[in-house]
Amino acid sequence: MSEKGHIPSHIAIIMDGNGRWARRRGFARFRGHRAGAESVREITRECAKKHLKQLTLYAFSQENWKRPQREINLLMKLLKDFLIKERKEINDNNIRLTAIGRVSELPEDVQKELAITMELSKNNTGMILCLALNYGGRAEIVDVTREIAKDVRNGKINLDEITEDTFKKHLYMRDMPDPDLLIRTGGDMRVSNFLLWEISYTELWVTPVCWPDFRKAHLEEALKDYARRERRFGGLRE
Ligand code: FPP
Repeated sequence: MSEKGHIPSHIAIIMDGNGRWARRRGFARFRGHRAGAESVREITRECAKKHLKQLTLYAFSQENWKRPQREINLLMKLLKDFLIKERKEINDNNIRLTAIGRVSELPEDVQKELAITMELSKNNTGMILCLALNYGGRAEIVDVTREIAKDVRNGKINLDEITEDTFKKHLYMRDMPDPDLLIRTGGDMRVSNFLLWEISYTELWVTPVCWPDFRKAHLEEALKDYARRERRFGGLRE
């Protein structure tokens, strides 16, 4: 049970609306993604300043492979540039970078820069910045199931010993707490295959503001709204 007035420890964000932001301005979609990368910088900085434990960003979903190859290439380039250019700032701010998703299926140059930034920041003790890359919530559940099935086959665990806790221990974010708050920009009321297991009791906050316009003031608005809520996790008010 958590009291009102708290700030969340872990925020997850579905960064949507880059394409619409660009279209409304008569720009190519890529300009929206590039502007979105600026929002990533600002919001990461703000969340670190607020001493959040973790910020998880949905940067590339498994479904995003269905986009035109040109857009995929540009998104991968943006990601790579971010990992190179922000490496120093991430480290200087004591942020630890991690990733969830089927990372081994990303282009090799992106994997390389990701590994370098993760290695460099691995002993940092401040906020965790977790990038969901080639991530799918259903795929995660399938991956967890496969691992548990392997453990059963190898006699490490009995079938009737499998609990929610066993499941949690095999999640991509096994060492991290579930998100307290899920923010979605761009106004759509759906979870889009993001953290399906982890958001069971997460508070949702949706704004029509497109991600490239999302700034500190909007984050403050979400935090204010969160602070007014009382989380009961299925229990009763005390
Ligand atoms: C959704 O907008 C956003 C994405 C598919 C990618 C998110 C990527 C970034 C914010 C930039 C790079 C990330 C990092 C971590 C540097 P959309 O294109 O689906 O928007 P639409 O719904 O308006 O078309």
